[in-house]
Amino acid sequence: MKILMVCLGNICRSPLAHGIMEKFVADKNLDWEIDSAGTSKWHNGEGPDPRSIAVAHKNNIDISRQVSRSISKMDLEYYDYIFAMDRSNLKDIKELAQENQLHKIHLFLPFGKVEEIDEVPDPYYTLGFDYVYDLINQANKNIVEILINQ
Ligand code: 4NP
Repeated sequence: MKILMVCLGNICRSPLAHGIMEKFVADKNLDWEIDSAGTSKWHNGEGPDPRSIAVAHKNNIDISRQVSRSISKMDLEYYDYIFAMDRSNLKDIKELAQENQLHKIHLFLPFGKVEEIDEVPDPYYTLGFDYVYDLINQANKNIVEILINQ
């Protein structure tokens, strides 16, 4: 299984989704490949936002070595599941995709059966990193179970 987590900057939300999913996968000894990317190239080459690094660290996950990159057409070919953190990301990813790749692209929280909200809020200008962490953690936990049992 190859999974790509996508947000706008690839410095706040998708690095958390990437790091948390890698931990679930390691804990379950799954041979899955996880990565993340942004729909913009604004932060290419940068590490995650210090607030994402901090909230991950608090939960015993190290995302400090991740490097931001933008999504490419090759990613749409390579990955089996591409999860968009919000609807704007979903639209941008779909615009990059070919018709026969659209089935791989999903809104992250609904696929993960998190029902309180359907988009991961952009925490960049807010202080909602703990809330965002909890949402992403719950969705990832459910996604692992869904994909193992499919
Ligand atoms: P992300 O958050 O998409 O979760 O990585 C953002 C990061 C940077 C910006 C916006 C959102 N920005 O405007 O630079």
